[in-house]
Amino acid sequence: MTPRLSAHGVVKRFPGVLALDGVDLDIRGGEVVAVVGENGAGKSTLMKILAGVLTPDAGELRLDGAPLLLPDVRAADRAGIALIHQELNLADNLDLAGNLHLGREPRRGPRGLGWIDRSRLERDSRDLLRRVGLDLPPTTLTAELSIGQRQMLEIARALGRSARFLILDEPTSSLSAAETERLLGLIAELRAEGTGIVYISHRLGEITRIADRVVVLRDGARTAELSGGEIERGRMVREMVGRELESLDSCERALGEVRLEIRGLPMAPEAPVLDLDVRSGEIVGLAGLVGSGRSELLGAIFGVAPRSHGRVRVDAREIPPGSPPASVAAGLGLVPEERGRQGLVLEGTIHENLALPGWRRTSRRGWVRSDEARANSRSVVRSLDIRPGDATRAAGTLSGGNQQKVALGKWLPLEPVVLLLDEPTRGVDVGARLEIHRRLQELASAGLAILFASSEMEEVLGLSDRVLVLHEGRIAGELPRERLSEEAVLSLATGSEAAP
Ligand SMILES: Nc1ncnc2c1ncn2[C@@H]1O[C@H](COP(=O)(O)OP(=O)(O)OP(=O)(O)O)[C@@H](O)[C@H]1O
Ligand SMILES: [Mg+2]
Repeated sequence: MTPRLSAHGVVKRFPGVLALDGVDLDIRGGEVVAVVGENGAGKSTLMKILAGVLTPDAGELRLDGAPLLLPDVRAADRAGIALIHQELNLADNLDLAGNLHLGREPRRGPRGLGWIDRSRLERDSRDLLRRVGLDLPPTTLTAELSIGQRQMLEIARALGRSARFLILDEPTSSLSAAETERLLGLIAELRAEGTGIVYISHRLGEITRIADRVVVLRDGARTAELSGGEIERGRMVREMVGRELESLDSCERALGEVRLEIRGLPMAPEAPVLDLDVRSGEIVGLAGLVGSGRSELLGAIFGVAPRSHGRVRVDAREIPPGSPPASVAAGLGLVPEERGRQGLVLEGTIHENLALPGWRRTSRRGWVRSDEARANSRSVVRSLDIRPGDATRAAGTLSGGNQQKVALGKWLPLEPVVLLLDEPTRGVDVGARLEIHRRLQELASAGLAILFASSEMEEVLGLSDRVLVLHEGRIAGELPRERLSEEAVLSLATGSEAAP
């Protein structure tokens, strides 16, 4: 009999939010069901219920027709259900083998009660790592992994549990194109082996490629189910957003004086140095494969990553290396890639997060102007359409995409001169992404200089006036708007074309 996992009439309330309002979902072994919806629609909440992380307020789960109670994650694990969380869940201080087997280490001795069988642990780990294409010794410390590698490690961990149902909540939002391909291939294999898969992504192109069925959630309710030829980008967007989306107009902006000036900045030890000017009104994209050095570059400019030599100036003012406060004071802002670890204080309220980079500035004048700060927060929440729009909520309770808006929004009240953005719309839904892009264009029109890194081709092509493509820590080439195309970016990014 085909395994079957289903949810019936699931309701989940959080203080002030009805996250799920009687949702049904049905997953059979050997199929890929995609769940799509805007940020905050309830996707992750539903997945957490299917994996025993949250208990529903009403409704029930069934496994192969029989009622299924999941009081905790262990119960879901025993039922063969594995969830790969949107916000990753790894112990940084363990090595890869330790994370892969956490809580189920192979042991020596009778009844498996003896010491941990370290050689078996490492052997099993090597197999799992190989399966997801992580070519690293199992003794590598997890803290050393890039975010894409961490994602693959989570997937390897789920594989090790031989789950019958595998739920992937935005697994590709931080993977490179090559890693994404590998993951999609792996999913196809698992499907062929009979695993039931739930796949969540805001990258609709992936969904048209792998989904057998698409379930659309809107405001906690299921609004449509698509299959076969109905699984198509425009249709999904209409069902998710409830209307057509216009596309981003590429607006001509007048370029002003140089706001960000970089001279002789080393891209990597041994690698050539970078000279770059970004002008007022200009949006410059950094493209390249994961690991090509984009994040390091942005970090070195801002001062969170080391910079041994080279010069950075903002409005002709020298920025000292390694001093984020000095960078902020000079009008530089950075929205980092990993919002959970670097960009936000998740326990803090939305308001506190939005006020954070400003504290230093306002308090230098004597005290924090709390009324002014609150008014600022309200206007940022409104202008980025952060939902729910109550600034006293903890940032950690927001859906992933809304957390991203807060990470961006906290810079707006500071009116920076130069904004550095690393994956500015990671995990943001199609409609909100368009809004953020419009907002960035407006900021540029008002005189800001923007330098952003993105692994989403659509974003690089749609937003940039000019693109620098990085390859293995060097600039492989520069593409002005007129020569910008997916092929041109890819051939430079993979090193298959010499710099023009
Ligand atoms: N622990 C929590 N406390 C309070 N509210 C919560 C909590 N978790 C989720 N919510 C709220 O429930 C709603 C659904 O959130 P959920 O994370 O399921 O959305 P999502 O569809 O996964 O969105 P995204 O695409 O941004 O990841 C949102 O309004 C969110 O703010
Ligand atoms: Mg989510």
